[in-house]
Amino acid sequence: MTHSPESLRQQLLTHLQLVHASGIDWLPSAPPLVISQTTKPADDASTASMFDIAEETAAAEGGLSIEERRVALQTLADEVKTCMRCAELCSTRTQTVFGDGEPGVELCFVGEAPGADEDAQGVPFVGAAGQLLNKIIAAMGFKRDEVYICNILRCRPPGNRTPLADEASNCRPFLERQLALVQPKFLVALGGCAATNLLQTTMSIGRLRGRFHNYKGVPLVVTYHPAYLLPHKHPEMKREVWEDMKMLLTRMGRPIPQKSQ
Ligand code: URA
Repeated sequence: MTHSPESLRQQLLTHLQLVHASGIDWLPSAPPLVISQTTKPADDASTASMFDIAEETAAAEGGLSIEERRVALQTLADEVKTCMRCAELCSTRTQTVFGDGEPGVELCFVGEAPGADEDAQGVPFVGAAGQLLNKIIAAMGFKRDEVYICNILRCRPPGNRTPLADEASNCRPFLERQLALVQPKFLVALGGCAATNLLQTTMSIGRLRGRFHNYKGVPLVVTYHPAYLLPHKHPEMKREVWEDMKMLLTRMGRPIPQKSQ
């Protein structure tokens, strides 16, 4: 039986999608891909390179059903539970904190890292900052389960210290895959850590907020972290956060609820 280059390419793409959906997010690039030459490809240009296929596989995450993405997210969360990439974090965490929400939601909030409450409960944004985030979400006209919430890190840094650059880069493949599976239409980076890591910038929030950025084609808004807005910190900055959320709602084509804050 002979296979056309196109059918071989489709079979390989399907196989890579299944491998990817089971949580494997990279393959060694050498040795080079060898395609059985039972049928000679028409020309080299018509044969997809491994690089093209890998790119299409990532893009084809969109081809997975919501249920397949839910399963892949659970597989990824299970992989995260056993992660030992950061020696200090995995020896001090109570548990990993993967994310909260369903794939396919329109909006995703990305924070910094779990704190003590999140480490205890295994759910992001359930402590004091989480209560404030819940209020922001409600003021925007969403229920909490209508958005997705995750962090740059999936483990609590001891004493709630700021994540180290190495920790953020160790966790980045999980975050990238998580966002590729959730596929939000809009992103909110909560605070400097999220903005720095999602946008690969060192600019301050003051300079990043109030306009749209781009994360892999997804419009992204930067705003202050809810912990920064707590009563003993800068509650007056809630006004700026609400301005940012109104800008986002307008771009999303959603009404701006009148009773805010
Ligand atoms: N702060 C964060 O950035 N994330 C949480 O999950 C909780 C507090």
